[in-house]
Amino acid sequence: MVKICCIGAGYVGGPTMAVIALKCPSVEVVVVDISVSRITAWNSDQLPIYEPGLDDVVEQCRGRNLFFSTDVEKHVAEADMVFVSVNTPTKTRGLGAGKAADLTYWESAARMIADVSKSDKIVVEKSTVPVKTAEAIEKILTHNSKGIKFQILSNPEFLAEGTAIEDLFTPDRVLIGGRETPDGQKAVQALKDIYSQWVPEDRILTTNLWSAELSKLAANAFLAQRISSVNAMSALCESTGADVTQVSYAVGKDTRIGPKFLNASVGFGGSCFQKDILNLVYICECNGLPEVAEYWRQVIKINDYQKSRFVNRIVSSMFNTVANKKIGILGFAFKKDTGDTRETPAIDVCKCLLGDKARLSIYDPQVTEDQIQRDLTLSKFYWDHPEHLQSLSPGTVKQVSIVWDAYSAVKDAHGLCILTEWDEFKTLDFQKIYDNMQKPAFVFDGRNIVNVEKLREIGFIVYSIGRPVDAWLKDMPAVA
Ligand code: UDX
Ligand code: ADP
Repeated sequence: MVKICCIGAGYVGGPTMAVIALKCPSVEVVVVDISVSRITAWNSDQLPIYEPGLDDVVEQCRGRNLFFSTDVEKHVAEADMVFVSVNTPTKTRGLGAGKAADLTYWESAARMIADVSKSDKIVVEKSTVPVKTAEAIEKILTHNSKGIKFQILSNPEFLAEGTAIEDLFTPDRVLIGGRETPDGQKAVQALKDIYSQWVPEDRILTTNLWSAELSKLAANAFLAQRISSVNAMSALCESTGADVTQVSYAVGKDTRIGPKFLNASVGFGGSCFQKDILNLVYICECNGLPEVAEYWRQVIKINDYQKSRFVNRIVSSMFNTVANKKIGILGFAFKKDTGDTRETPAIDVCKCLLGDKARLSIYDPQVTEDQIQRDLTLSKFYWDHPEHLQSLSPGTVKQVSIVWDAYSAVKDAHGLCILTEWDEFKTLDFQKIYDNMQKPAFVFDGRNIVNVEKLREIGFIVYSIGRPVDAWLKDMPAVA
């Protein structure tokens, strides 16, 4: 029986290992983490992450060939293959602060693997890391190996949250990078043998180490670039009277471009896009390519611009002041079907509105009150530094109340903002909402999910990203 140990029971490690265990009954998978609360949750009925279909997969394999444990060293020592899926946050201080990846967690995991290993191992890099991390890790492992052989592989994860299980069941591709030596190729084959139990051969790509590492950064940068491109267009649409949904539909009909990832929004979020692009920018700068770095930096600049443009629209349409006005916030997660708030545009939008002294009533079906308060009080990038988080108790922002249904969030409010495209927001009774709001009643749709015409008929003043603007808003041009 092949034994796999995965260090890091997070959004990537947990679902990926659960699916490997499900699809490969002859493989024993142990997911380990230093966080006791996370492991306790994985062993309970209340899993630490919300992901459609995950409960079912875990239920089928937990206790059979899938285990969750805090005994990191024991399970690493016993494994044939060790996946490393620990945090790789953006540095908050020192050289490269705000851009470079902090590899502290990775390095300590690598040193621990070298320390406890008594047999040869394949070490698989799963978290997104800067190009050439594998080489650095290889050095740490071999210099501390006491004669044990380590083969390092890069096997970046392409799953998206909310569809993780689907993505893992039928991936577009599985990428395995390894050394081009006979031992390296043997290790690549060993990992390929695992995936080929459910993924067709032609979808399993093998490359060298650096290509695999860079492909992950490149894929995320390309995806984010599409969103920034359509968001840039949305600003032009608003100024010219075009409708961004029609433009992106027409553009996406070109089979060379394709229809996916062309939805204009208040901005992209999530733990990967910004972090990976910042990483890419830093790598380009370090390699003497400032023009290339600047090109990719623009993707983030447009994303920031989009978030501030949205807030400017809110403030300017509400007579240039939101002080003491109640604004209902519908959705806080960075996208629907996840409770994840990492880098969610809602944080920036809410912080700006709070800066202008608005009162916020926030509803998200999957995000806890504690998490929202934490997000609104922490500084940028702190979310991915657990050692800081442990020493901080979540603050409380007094102007914020967290409620448990959409109607309470918007009751007596002057305006409502849709910041996550949860399906339940599409079928709200907007007449009822209108009747219970202050007048004029404003809707700011950051996800283009409402029926603008219908809402205007009810009496709302509506702003929907990239759509022809209300006469009201035209009279109150947003400050860009
Ligand atoms: C992303 C990549 O898709 C995945 O392959 C990688 O492994 C991790 O990063 P994820 O962050 O989970 O996955 O979500 P994704 O679906 O890519 O969405 C990212 C952000 O872009 C969300 O905030 C989403 O709302 C936004 N988005 C997406 C848009 O604004 N418009 C779109 O058309 C698509
Ligand atoms: P991702 O989204 O990439 O999965 P997460 O932050 O959700 O990232 O998960 C990373 C996990 O790795 C966290 O639960 C953290 O506690 C764990 N972790 C970090 N360093 C170590 C380590 N040295 N040993 C075990 N677990 C670790």
